[in-house]
Amino acid sequence: MALLTIREIGDPILEKRAKEVKEMTPRLKELVKDMLETMYDANGVGLAAPQIGILKRIVVIDVSPEQNDPHVFINPVIIEQDGEQDGMEGCLSVPGKIGEVIRPAHVKTKAFDENMQPFEIEGTELFARCMCHEFDHLDGILYTTKTIGGLMDTDAPAEDEEDEEEDGEEE
Ligand code: NI
Repeated sequence: MALLTIREIGDPILEKRAKEVKEMTPRLKELVKDMLETMYDANGVGLAAPQIGILKRIVVIDVSPEQNDPHVFINPVIIEQDGEQDGMEGCLSVPGKIGEVIRPAHVKTKAFDENMQPFEIEGTELFARCMCHEFDHLDGILYTTKTIGGLMDTDAPAEDEEDEEEDGEEE
C-alpha cells in the first residue's frame, strides 16, 4: 500500500480521456487499494485514476460518514439519470476551492468491480453528485468547467449554515 501523489489543476493529464480497463491484474488491484488509501488520507469522498496520473477508467468513492463503505468502479457508465440537485462541489485536484454545480438528483450506473464482476448501483444526493463528478474525470472534465458563478475559496466566510455544512467534501 502506498499513498499516491494527487495531480492538480493545470496538469494536462487531468484533461485527457482515460482508457477502458480490459482485464484486472494484480498490479491494478494494488492500484485500487492505493487509490482508496490516498482518498481516505486526503479526506476525499472520491478519486479517479487520472487524478493520480493513471489514464484508466477506475474510480473509488466512499460517501459514508464513517468512511467505511468503499465503492470501486471499473469502466463505469451512467445508464439512467433524472432530476436535478444544486450544490457546492470541491475536488482534491483543485485544493482550496469550491463551486456551485447542478447535477442529476438520481443516477444509475453500471460498472465492474475490482474482480471484474459487473454490477449496477443507484445513488441520490451526495452519492449521485460524486459519481457524476468522478466519472467526468475519466473524460478529462473538471467540475471547474461546470460551475455557476465560478470558484470560491474554501476559507472564505460561509454565506449561511448550509454552505458551511457542505464544505469539505472533496472529490
Ligand atoms: Ni475531482
